[in-house]
Amino acid sequence: MRTQIREGSGRMRPISVERLPDADMENVVAWLTTIGAVDMAHP
Ligand code: HEM
Repeated sequence: MRTQIREGSGRMRPISVERLPDADMENVVAWLTTIGAVDMAHP
């Protein structure tokens, strides 16, 4: 998930640390994890 956010893939562009600070990214990952949208083994 973090790699996808920072590096992107295919048609998804990378989201830089300037636009989404690390702390905010961690909160997004935590939220997606709590709603079951992310594989717990590789968040
Ligand atoms: C924090 C916000 C975001 C997260 C966590 C996120 C996460 C992801 C993940 C995990 C994938 C891979 C899905 C898979 O392989 O099954 C993905 C793919 C994709 N995302 Fe995002 N994404 C975010 C923001 C965005 C935004 C803002 C856009 C468009 C403006 C976008 C467009 C796409 C597209 C088009 C793909 C498919 C990539 C491809 O063509 O191979 N995403 N995203």
